[in-house]
Amino acid sequence: MTRKLFIKTYGCQMNAYDSARMADVMAPHGYALVDEAEGADMVVLNTCHIREKAAEKVYSELGRLRVMKQERAAQGETLIVAVAGCVAQAEGEEMIRRADAVDIVVGPQVYHRLPEMVAKLGQTRKALDTEFPAIDKFDALPDTKRVEGPTAFLTVQEGCDKFCTFCVVPYTRGAEYSRSVAQIEAEARHLVGLGVREITLLGQNVNAYHGLGEDGAAVGLGVLIERLARIDGLKRLRYTTSHPRDMSDELIAAHGCEEKLMPFLHLPVQSGSDGVLEAMNRGHTADDYRRLVARIRAARSDVALSSDFIVGFPGESDADFEATMTLVREIGFAQSFSFKYSSRPGTPAAAAHKQIPEDVKADRLARLQALLTEHEHANLRACIGREFEVLFEKPGRYDGQLIGRSPYLQPVHVQARGYKVGDFARVRVVQAMPHSLRAELVSEAATAAEAVA
Ligand code: 5AD
Ligand code: SF4
Repeated sequence: MTRKLFIKTYGCQMNAYDSARMADVMAPHGYALVDEAEGADMVVLNTCHIREKAAEKVYSELGRLRVMKQERAAQGETLIVAVAGCVAQAEGEEMIRRADAVDIVVGPQVYHRLPEMVAKLGQTRKALDTEFPAIDKFDALPDTKRVEGPTAFLTVQEGCDKFCTFCVVPYTRGAEYSRSVAQIEAEARHLVGLGVREITLLGQNVNAYHGLGEDGAAVGLGVLIERLARIDGLKRLRYTTSHPRDMSDELIAAHGCEEKLMPFLHLPVQSGSDGVLEAMNRGHTADDYRRLVARIRAARSDVALSSDFIVGFPGESDADFEATMTLVREIGFAQSFSFKYSSRPGTPAAAAHKQIPEDVKADRLARLQALLTEHEHANLRACIGREFEVLFEKPGRYDGQLIGRSPYLQPVHVQARGYKVGDFARVRVVQAMPHSLRAELVSEAATAAEAVA
């Protein structure tokens, strides 16, 4: 009998990858993925703990599921509720105690054991597993069963040893771990066989990657990219998220010479103030970051950069904040994410004196976001008249329209009759919209031939 599985994903791309893999793990046990909780036999909340109210949001979702579960029970049916991801890891036992609806709490390093936990529910009322086992989760996972469109994520590295003072990741995801080159290559080939043309390599600190090569020696991300670029049928590679401290010469050089590596780099700087960077334990100064960006741009002049920023870190003065604004003006990020500092239990910064009042944080965030938006628009406008290749990812809103991505990760809307999702096309940008571009096919005949090739 086929059972219905609904997975709700919060947070980052790594969670999106994990959700897809949980679906793969459950598939051989008769669970097919569905798009809504209504009518599902099992609901998994794959949670995120990075910022405020994460746990509260999960608990209120669990309140709704409790009602759903009672309704199902009244009809003699069972609804299994599992909580996975970083809130599950952080809350553990507490979650089982506090939320009546929860049957299973499973951490991000052990979700390959989900089928056993479900099977166990017959004997035990609740199941909890938040271990960091020595055995490799990735060895236990089955091959990917389904992909959505021509792009896919592939986790190559997990965990973090950096211990930025604001961040829960080193506690919820554990120590840094890299998969082997052979294992990653096999997964990449498998994805390409399923029709994937673009792979984004994922890791909390992806450029700290140091997986074992065939000869038993560790290799860095630059070498891994070079190896994956040799796969026929794979056309584009990206990676995220990187740390400024781990941009090796080899990786920077790859941006210059590896054509399949797309010219877009998410390189979070968090702040432009040396004092704040030090208090955050980032391990570099604002000038180090400027020099690094110059080296990356020397290797690949058109690389588009994006960053994460935190405003209102404990002790951040007006001058510190202005230093961030200055850095933003100098670098000119194509895209960015910015957040108010949120105190995370158990992290060193949470205990710091001089927490910043909420209204100051809100004011700084509004100013920073206005500046970042200005830069994003300028960057999109500068594309008008340019030509580049897009990979179509999904249908657009209008008949005959497809939405693809530029090499710089911008969404591009194209009237592209005769093309389909998964095709490449050469386009010329005609209009900049708030967060995307509109473009026209450059030459129907020529590009149609290319799309077939
Ligand atoms: N408060 C605010 N933002 C945070 N981030 C991580 N931890 C916190 C926190 N406690 C942001 C950082 C990171 C991104 C994924 O989330 O900018 O790069
Ligand atoms: Fe968190 Fe810092 Fe590690 Fe990124 S590098 S996951 S911000 S501790």
